[in-house]
Amino acid sequence: MNGFRVGEDDFELDGRPVRLLSGALHYFRVHEEQWGHRLAMLRAMGLNCVETYVPWNLHEPHPGEYSDVEALGRFLDAARDAGLWAIVRPGPYICAEWENGGLPHWLTGAVGARARTRDAEYLGHVDRWFGRLLKEVVPRQHDRGGPVIMVQVENEYGSYGSDQVYLRHLAELLRAEGVGVPLFTSDGPEDHMLTGGSVPGVLATVNFGSQAEAAFGTLRGHRPQGPLMCMEFWCGWFDHWGAEHVVRDAADAADALREILECGASVNLYMAHGGTNFAGWAGANRGGGALHDGVLEPDVTSYDYDAPIDEFGRPTEKFRRFREVLAAYAQGPLPEPPAPPPSLGEHAPVGLTEWAPLSTVMESLGGPLAEYAVPPTFEELDVDRGLVHYALTVPGPRRPYPLRVRGLRDRAVVYVDGVRAGVLTEEEPALAEPVAGHARVELWVESLGRVNYGPRTGEAKGVTGGVLHERQYLHGVEARGLRLDAFSSPEAVRGVPASEEGASGRPGLYRGTVEVGVPGDATLELPSWTRGFVWVNGFNVGRYWSAGPQTSLFVPGPVLREGTNEVWVLELEGLEGLEGTGAGTIALSPVPPVPPVPPVPPVPPVPPTSL
Ligand code: GLA
Repeated sequence: MNGFRVGEDDFELDGRPVRLLSGALHYFRVHEEQWGHRLAMLRAMGLNCVETYVPWNLHEPHPGEYSDVEALGRFLDAARDAGLWAIVRPGPYICAEWENGGLPHWLTGAVGARARTRDAEYLGHVDRWFGRLLKEVVPRQHDRGGPVIMVQVENEYGSYGSDQVYLRHLAELLRAEGVGVPLFTSDGPEDHMLTGGSVPGVLATVNFGSQAEAAFGTLRGHRPQGPLMCMEFWCGWFDHWGAEHVVRDAADAADALREILECGASVNLYMAHGGTNFAGWAGANRGGGALHDGVLEPDVTSYDYDAPIDEFGRPTEKFRRFREVLAAYAQGPLPEPPAPPPSLGEHAPVGLTEWAPLSTVMESLGGPLAEYAVPPTFEELDVDRGLVHYALTVPGPRRPYPLRVRGLRDRAVVYVDGVRAGVLTEEEPALAEPVAGHARVELWVESLGRVNYGPRTGEAKGVTGGVLHERQYLHGVEARGLRLDAFSSPEAVRGVPASEEGASGRPGLYRGTVEVGVPGDATLELPSWTRGFVWVNGFNVGRYWSAGPQTSLFVPGPVLREGTNEVWVLELEGLEGLEGTGAGTIALSPVPPVPPVPPVPPVPPVPPTSL
């Protein structure tokens, strides 16, 4: 039988059993000019397949307005050119530590808890979006000479809901749009997840980080036949701002990988190479156990994931160990890792010479200013990533009372009559000093990343519950939003009126340059800066935050050029103590040298089910 199919015990290609040795690599987390290098690294590790999600919100910033969906097609072509098969996980929900789990803010703002269900309004948008996105996938399926061998239905749906009508709709939609390759679902290896998330007649796979035998045992309880696959083998993990850096021991991960393969299963390493959450696309979790009603835990900019191929694309100790394990299943010697991308020649300080206060930035780049009865949410102002400025009045005369914000998401720098009065959060929603009326209160509210997992996925950002003086709602508010996307027009950003006073440490937009001799991959350090975003030559390299654990940002080499490079820093909180003295020095540094990858030991004979 020709083509790729799901057999009774194995995946089959042209009638022969094959084992999928796949690795996750998200095209949207790697600079396009570096895809080829990363894909070659996957091959060198011993993988025969690459897997990617598709983030809906990246590609449809406004309803019906698509943005570079073709990137998916170009990535799939690059995978084919690298000699890899491809697994596509189009969502519509993807989790992935990605803003809102990939769902557009304009959608979750409108449908709320009806997202990820059979709801007609939600499905109307899904149908339209899939109609567009699948045009990139369908012609690149394996039976048409392309790399795509499998397509996922939803993502870990059993961790979220139980709407079988919705899942069946998605499976039928994929088929109706021309997806002919096998479909699959992926879920945690728990009975309730598998019963909620799998679809009769569609291959079920499981996700886990260890104890393969037990996990596949649970899967077998639901699916007595069919190939076994761990669709997400969590060989590392991600970091949250303000928390410890997470690592997974390389030897332990390699043992867990070996156990999966010894079960006769296929595998997808999550992540083979994590990359970077450029442009503020990092998502967030909610702590607090099963109800996920605890504190917001925003994800850092790096998605290094402690993966075998690190954020810079370098092989790690985990790479070497995985390569040893995977080599036993390869059809001959593995290719050598490609040469690493060039590194920046030498340390280069950034000179910031111009500054504009946030109010000026908002006037130049923000959305329309309007008055509302109650504070609008980010969604109501059509802001996905970015900030909202709220201004309201405490009537007077009245004596001082506490000023509180209900449902603040996520963080507000507050000014009373033009004087900074404090920083509020959801957990600390009241100003330290009571406020007397009459007073003018301004709140600069920032989203730290939308929740991407659990029952609070899709929750609104901004002042979602109101501003209270004593127990009285303060009504009548001027509000204006600033989308990070407004910075994608260099002319507009250069046009923000700025003074020549340079970096004073105050919140606002800083502009300057850095001179580069030999361009290449670099890190950007911002010691003593608090929190904000950085653009290099108009490319948003992501959020920085002194809360750590991440202390520098990855700047992909293709973003830099020889000579003068433009740098913008949007500092949202301000550097205390540096006022007037010049802010902390920002500089680009070369990437540390690539550690040598020791040779792989002799390859044992090829087992019968491998390629
Ligand atoms: C789940 C999701 C992935 C990712 C991982 C954790 O398995 O399916 O998208 O969020 O958790 O990294």
